[in-house]
Amino acid sequence: MISVDEDSPRAPSRPIAVDESGFYHDERRANAAFRWLRREAPCWWHEPRGFWIVSRRDDVQSMSKNPDLWSSANAVAMPRKGEPTIAEAQQAPSIIMMDPPDHNRHRSLVSRAFTPRRVSEMEARMRELAAESIEGTPTDEPVDFVESIALPLPMRVIAEMLGVPDRDLEDFRRWSDVVVVQGGADADRDAGLDAISEVFGYFAQMLGERRRSPGDDLVTALLQAEIDGRRLDDGEILIFCMTLLVAGNETTRTLVAQGTRMLLEHPDQLALVRSGAVALPDAIEELLRLSTPIRYFFRRARREIEVHGRTIRSGDPVMMLYAAANRDETVWGDDADDLDVSRPVEPHVSLGFGQHFCLGASLARLEARILFEELLARRSRWERAGEPELVDSSFVNGIHHMPVILSA
Ligand code: HEM
Repeated sequence: MISVDEDSPRAPSRPIAVDESGFYHDERRANAAFRWLRREAPCWWHEPRGFWIVSRRDDVQSMSKNPDLWSSANAVAMPRKGEPTIAEAQQAPSIIMMDPPDHNRHRSLVSRAFTPRRVSEMEARMRELAAESIEGTPTDEPVDFVESIALPLPMRVIAEMLGVPDRDLEDFRRWSDVVVVQGGADADRDAGLDAISEVFGYFAQMLGERRRSPGDDLVTALLQAEIDGRRLDDGEILIFCMTLLVAGNETTRTLVAQGTRMLLEHPDQLALVRSGAVALPDAIEELLRLSTPIRYFFRRARREIEVHGRTIRSGDPVMMLYAAANRDETVWGDDADDLDVSRPVEPHVSLGFGQHFCLGASLARLEARILFEELLARRSRWERAGEPELVDSSFVNGIHHMPVILSA
């Protein structure tokens, strides 16, 4: 199906279907393909969909910090032949799809809300929410870890930051789940467009309310924000709200769910975390690296660029395959595919790098730390109680459901 470089000594015999969820769900096959890409074809043309794949950690970092060469404009999601991506179908660009100088101006409007200091001010509230979901989950019987533990905290935190009341959380969750997978090419596009228009309708109404009576939330802050003396228009604010809703929800849920899944599959690693032999923040970096909640983002070449002997033409889409870059043996050694919470922390690319480095990085790390701390303190035994049901998407590494038994 895919024409690999015929002259390569170890071309994989099976297609490298980075656009299909099944490819990633077969972990051994995916890891073997990633290894081949990194070693033999670090800049590889994916013929069926017409884009390049870059798979080494250093190359992903270098692209991410060079927006002058690699544009994010209309470029972060997987290209679909003959039709605009869902992102391109939106009326105003999200910051994730902007290049400097616009990007810096827009990002600075919300970045203050996400600094490590501002985020740490929310710690007490986060602990309360984490404790609530853990204590509300039955013990000594199978429960769905995703629904009960991994999902509520990130969703409620971003909802509270945006000023979304509890009664709307179910809608909030549904929209986020449908929209986030649109970064791949295998998502239900009509459902994505419907969800986007519902999100816009919801926040448009909220904008009207906040204009009449301002609150202490991000929506009010965006209404009052100015760029070079100009207020944001409604379209720009709505896109901001949607970006935060989508980016801050499913991703952290995946880190906690996939992280727990890996620890359950490796009891020796869980024991290291539980005993305190490994600092939890370091263990979380290892879980972030190997779970890679978002498997890739794209860029477009701004001019002709030579990469590892291949000529990328101006305008060509390039996939930064985080899932492969995070297993780079030249950075993490020959056992890079294995979970080792005690390995020295090296910068991974799960949260991106450079110009668009994840705005919610401090928030996500703190949420994960609090959830794991509270779980370790409140539940002495965690066991698997069945196979996890994985999200059907090439773009996100999510888990729908994961049966576990927790004991007090
Ligand atoms: C484990 C959880 C998370 C992961 C794996 C993750 C991953 C990423 C990645 C890879 C990027 C880089 C995009 C690029 O280079 O094109 C990014 C950007 C971004 N993330 Fe996160 N994210 C997480 C949590 C969050 C949270 C909690 C929020 C906010 C509430 C958030 C908000 C954003 C925003 C707004 C951007 C765009 C930044 C920009 O364009 O300057 N993320 N994220």
